[in-house]
Amino acid sequence: MKARFITLDGIDGAGKSTNLAVIKNWFEARRLPVLFTREPGGTPVGEALREILLNPATRAGLRTETLMMFAARCQHIEDVILPALQKGIHVVSDRFTDATFAYQGGGRGVPQADIETLENWVQGSLRPDLTILLDVPLEVSMSRLAETREKDRFEQEAADFFTRVRQSYLQRAAAAPHRYAVIDSNRARSEVQADIEATLAGHFS
Ligand code: TMP
Repeated sequence: MKARFITLDGIDGAGKSTNLAVIKNWFEARRLPVLFTREPGGTPVGEALREILLNPATRAGLRTETLMMFAARCQHIEDVILPALQKGIHVVSDRFTDATFAYQGGGRGVPQADIETLENWVQGSLRPDLTILLDVPLEVSMSRLAETREKDRFEQEAADFFTRVRQSYLQRAAAAPHRYAVIDSNRARSEVQADIEATLAGHFS
């Protein structure tokens, strides 16, 4: 079986952590070789950039922020993602380039064409085989974030920022429905879990 590259994305507060556990259990139950990783991060360089990117004290312009996301991604692809896929190990990444289109593009206003240029340069032909997009209404995201004690640089953004981020995610998913599974995450955990499991089963059938 060809190794798959699967990404999980969505606005902050969409329930990624809970549902990553669901995905982990699904792979474990089937004894499929899999590597879980995250962005920004996944390598020493990526994790160092993550510290800078999420630190509320960081003052970075929108292009600097975008370049740091892609710098972390570049190292991640070279050192972690491609080597695993080449060995036949499936890769599940907690966020990937959809987050750049949504946060830096939709949220901050970086032109989509500029992000596409970086995407092509850094990734070559690498694109996720499947992106699970967890979607919640803004109020749900905001009330979940309100419970977070120490908010990072992105979590501190205002509601209109997250409205744009969410719209960007949904627009991207609508434009390429074969690649995305948009999952309404504003439901009982068991229902969300069942949808994720069905999505994975469909993808691996
Ligand atoms: P998280 O791992 O807790 O989701 O935090 C990562 C944060 O970084 C999240 O707020 C989204 C943001 N982010 C971007 O703005 N652009 C990106 O390309 C990625 C990967 C993440």
